Order: sequence, then structure tokens, then C-alpha cells
Amino acid sequence: MTQIKVTGLGDDPMVVRHAFAQFPSGVAVLAVDIDGGKHALVASSFMVGVSLDPCLSAVAVQKTSETWELIKDADSLGVSILARGQSDLTRKLASKNRAARFEQVAIEVGGQGAVFIDDAALWLDCSIYEVSEAGDHWMVLLEVKKLGVGENEPLIWHGAKFRELVDAQSIDVE
Ligand SMILES: Cc1cc2nc3c(=O)[nH]c(=O)nc-3n(C[C@H](O)[C@H](O)[C@H](O)COP(=O)(O)O)c2cc1C
Repeated sequence: MTQIKVTGLGDDPMVVRHAFAQFPSGVAVLAVDIDGGKHALVASSFMVGVSLDPCLSAVAVQKTSETWELIKDADSLGVSILARGQSDLTRKLASKNRAARFEQVAIEVGGQGAVFIDDAALWLDCSIYEVSEAGDHWMVLLEVKKLGVGENEPLIWHGAKFRELVDAQSIDVE
């Protein structure tokens, strides 16, 4: 049996990062087209179901994000929850070279500028509902106006690695 040991946060920020990385998540891409320029923000902090009525999702955005400054006033934000097999695409969309993020990336642009990534697991068309301070991040609530469910399973982010879903029962049966 593992002994439970709960300690302080310590001085090394990597300790907290490593601990938080134990929590698995999906990979969301917030994307928008503003006057023909496309902007993408990859976020593993995305939370789908904050409220059903109104239909709200949430995301924590680093205050240092340059992309957030560009997209925070958009009327409509596209959110794509990336799918199994889209890990290279995720790296591309999060690359430092912002101008190259959409090179050879298949997308669709909605009427109000929301950008959706082809072959994702889920698409949400959102408006910004509320932004509040959360330490070194912005806590952003998004109102989901439209959605579409894809046919692909989601990509998983865990322990600073991309992973894929495996049915737990199939392991037990072996
Ligand atoms: C897997 C993954 C998850 C990320 N999750 C977040 C997140 O939840 N919030 C955030 O602000 N940035 C997150 N980032 C970093 C952003 O995608 C982006 O690289 C960063 O904001 C710097 O670019 P920018 O200045 O263009 O925004 C993540 C990056 C990767 C690769």
C-alpha cells in the first residue's frame, strides 16, 4: 500500500507543476480569425462543463499570453478539443512562431470568425462570458453558443506527455 504523504509546496515551482501534471486533461485550441489573421491558443486547463444553464466552459490563460491579448475582444471564439493522433498538430499550434501556427493546418472558419480544427473530437462556438483574475492567470468563463461532436476520440495530456485513451476493461480481461 502506498503511504500518503502531503507536504508543503516548497520553493521549486517544478514541484507544483509536476504535481498538477498528474491530473489528466484534454487539449483545447481556442482559435479565431481577425481580419484574415488566424490566432491559436492551446490550453490543457480547459474545462468543458462549468454550468449547463447557461452553458459555460472555462479556461485559465497565462497573463503573459500574447495571443490572449489579440483574441480577448473577439465576438466568437472557436474551441476545438483535439483528437487522438493530433499531438504533432498541438505542438505546431502552440509553437513560439505565432505566424507559422496555421501553416498546412486544415480548418473551418465560422461566420463570426470562430476557427475550428478539422478532425477534432469536439467543437464549441463560444463567446466570452466573464474574465477574472486568478493569480498569474486569467480565469475565463466562456458561454457555449453552438457545438458539434466529432467521431474521433480525444487526445489526452498527462505528465507533460500526450497519451491516448485505453478502455480499462480491456486491460482487466487479459
Ligand atoms: C499541451 C499544452 C497545454 C497548454 N495549456 C495552457 C493553458 O492551459 N493555459 C495557457 O495560458 N497556456 C497554455 N499553454 C501554452 C500556450 O499554448 C502558448 O504556448 C502560450 O500561451 C504562449 O504563446 P502566446 O504568447 O502566443 O499565447 C499550453 C501549451 C501546451 C503545449
